[in-house]
Amino acid sequence: MEIIIQSDADATSITAARMVARLVKEKPHAVLGLATGSTPLKLYQELVRLHQQEGLDFSGITTFNLDEYIGLPRDHEQSYYSFMWENLFSQINIQPQNVFIPDGMAADVPEACAEYEQAILNAGGIDLQVLGIGSDGHVGFNEPTSSFASRTRIKTLTRQTLKDNARFFEGDETQVPHHCITMGIGTIMDAGCILMLAFGEKKAQAIASMVEGPVASVVPASILQHHARAKVFIDEAAATHLKRADYYRWVYEGKPNWQLDA
Ligand code: GLP
Repeated sequence: MEIIIQSDADATSITAARMVARLVKEKPHAVLGLATGSTPLKLYQELVRLHQQEGLDFSGITTFNLDEYIGLPRDHEQSYYSFMWENLFSQINIQPQNVFIPDGMAADVPEACAEYEQAILNAGGIDLQVLGIGSDGHVGFNEPTSSFASRTRIKTLTRQTLKDNARFFEGDETQVPHHCITMGIGTIMDAGCILMLAFGEKKAQAIASMVEGPVASVVPASILQHHARAKVFIDEAAATHLKRADYYRWVYEGKPNWQLDA
């Protein structure tokens, strides 16, 4: 795992965006796994800027989103479908048929999940997966005790996640759907590389457990210790509980230029 600590969320997101942009340039038909939540917003803004000002071309790119709430129609303002179109897809030249987001209104959820897994395989697998982390250490919506072997499926959110996400539903936790479809941890681990972002003090404990704690399903993100290419982009506030932060800084400062965006 590579830990990249930068001064603030904006600087960190811009560094992470360079890595995504490099892949998009080098592999015009790359497959990206994308996340929602407040964390990747600046990364997406930077990708939009790179498209609009520097011509970064998404016309051959395919995307798969991590998760979606069950029971929210796509046009609901808090569906992850709406989030992605508003914050990224409507502002870049991606082809709509190359965008995949789990269908939270699917009549047959297990069937829809199996089809989602198949679509990822048909696309050739995910080259780069963008991830955030929940305050309880979840990735996607894989809550604590999720199987490390899990694939795309239905999950029930924890009360902590309902509380955390209530801010998107007028602060009313009862409006947050209790169920979701999420890529499994096995699905996420199949990605060629992982780019995780986390900002702020409220993520510091989850980051420390993920990076320096034991690998255990009570901290789903800790499985990333077993991924061969996992990069964790965090700001100083999210780094506060890391015992070896100085070592991670030392490693990053000493990297040769050619390795920086790879
Ligand atoms: C949500 C999403 C995750 C996201 C996480 C953190 O519940 N399902 O994909 O990474 O929680 O959200 P935020 O970035 O808003 O802190």
